[in-house]
This record gives sequence, structure tokens and C-alpha cells, in this order.
Amino acid sequence: MNKKVKVQVTDLTKRFGDLLVLDKVSFEVYEGEFLCIVGPTGCGKTTFLNSLTHLYEPTSGKILFNGEEVNLEKHNIAYIFQEYSAMEWLTVRQNVRFGLEIKKDYKNIDRKVDEALELVGLTKFAGYYPKQLSASMLQRVVIARAFATHPELLLMDEPYGQLDINLRFKLEDEVVRLCKQTNTTVIFITHNIEEAVYLGDRILVLTNKPTSIKEIIMDELPHPRDIAAPEFVEMRNRITDLIKWW
Ligand SMILES: Nc1ncnc2c1ncn2[C@@H]1O[C@H](COP(=O)(O)OP(=O)(O)OP(=O)(O)O)[C@@H](O)[C@H]1O
Ligand SMILES: [Mg+2]
Repeated sequence: MNKKVKVQVTDLTKRFGDLLVLDKVSFEVYEGEFLCIVGPTGCGKTTFLNSLTHLYEPTSGKILFNGEEVNLEKHNIAYIFQEYSAMEWLTVRQNVRFGLEIKKDYKNIDRKVDEALELVGLTKFAGYYPKQLSASMLQRVVIARAFATHPELLLMDEPYGQLDINLRFKLEDEVVRLCKQTNTTVIFITHNIEEAVYLGDRILVLTNKPTSIKEIIMDELPHPRDIAAPEFVEMRNRITDLIKWW
């Protein structure tokens, strides 16, 4: 793995009033890496992504991207929110195009939109409005919108929660292939340990609040991964044992 540091998190602390959520969390994400973060509900996973993108200001500590303060005007970062958001008044195609328009990225815009729609299997639905789509199709619109911008850093907050399992595996394979091909750095948040083992180059396991890092696990199983392979099952069990959330 390329060891250039893309994201550097140092002593990140976030409080909401008396509630200490993130407690001096430090780690780095390497260029081209697919980092999965798993942790109990309410431990601060979304808070971390919101801090990275300046939706929240950290109480203390810092997050650097390419060695500098994160600046969304300058850095090509895409964020797929946990509560996904397609704009009701725009068609599927316009929704995907919008991601590029807000970045003023008009070069080959229609080709990029076509490619992204194709990737998530929505080409035939380009003219539909969000109201006419199922939940999983809506989710694919949002994924296409992020991918169309060819981000340097892709943040995904439980993006596949709504998808049926077959579609999830298909999209996951596509996402891994695409990210590897384009050397995109990914931070992928999930509750699903199997999904983390399926996707990650490394898996960062968080504790309950006040949240710190329990362990970081290397996952070097070859892609596409076989969820029934003994090494896969062993890693999944190891992480499950590590986190006694229940
Ligand atoms: N704006 C806010 N004001 C006050 N408290 C907040 C705010 N945002 C988050 N919190 C609290 O911070 C904690 C972490 O929330 P966060 O949404 O980051 O958790 P999470 O790990 O993403 O959970 P989930 O797995 O359920 O998505 C929770 O206890 C939540 O109530
Ligand atoms: Mg969350």
C-alpha cells in the first residue's frame, strides 16, 4: 500500500455540552486506502465526518487533508450522508449533474453523468423523479452523484443500509474497483462488520462513548472477497469479539 498520508487526525475531541463524544482520537488515512470505521451507535462516527467537513467544529484537535486544513472549495471531497438526499424537484440525471455543477466542473459533464448513471444501473431511469423511485434506487442516485465528481476523498456514512443484499454486494464490488482504479481514498462508515471486512484495506474499530480507537485491523484478503472463506469468517469473528456492543 502507498503510505502517503492523505488525512491526518490528531487528538480530535468533540463535546456537545457535557457530553464527551470523541476523546482525543488520532489516526491517519493513506492515499488510495479504503478505510472502514465500525463502532456502536451514537459513538460519534457521523460526528467525525461532520468535523472533517467543517459542518461541526472540533472542540480540540485537528484534521488535515494533504497536510492542510480541510477546505471544501479547494479539496475535491465528496460526502454521502447517512440520511441520503436526492432533490425531489430534479430528475435522476439532474440530481447527478448537480454534484458537478456545484463544483463548477463542467468539463465533459454529460459524459461523467452518463458514466455514473451506468455504474449504478440507473441509465434507464435518468428521466425519473425521486418520488418515482424505490429507496435503493434513491440511494444509487446519491452514490452516482458523489462518484460523478471523481473525488479525491470519498466519505460514505452507511450508504448501503437500505439496499438488498445482492445489490449491496454488486455495488460494493463496483465501488472497490472504481476506487482502486482511480486511487480514490475512502472513509466508509458502517455498522455491518461483514461489510467492513468485505470492503476495507483497514478496519478501525471504535469504543463506546467517550470514544477512542479500540483497534485498527489490516485486511489484506484479495478482492473480490469470499464471505464464506475461512480467513474471512475468522476476521469477522475477531472483530465481533472485539466489540461487545450488546
Ligand atoms: N448537533 C448535536 N448536538 C448535540 N448532540 C449531538 C449532535 N450531534 C450528535 N450528537 C450526539 O453525539 C453522539 C454521537 O452522534 P453521532 O451521530 O455522531 O453517532 P454515530 O456514531 O454516527 O451513530 P449512528 O451509528 O447511530 O449513526 C450522540 O450521543 C448524539 O446524540
Ligand atoms: Mg451516524
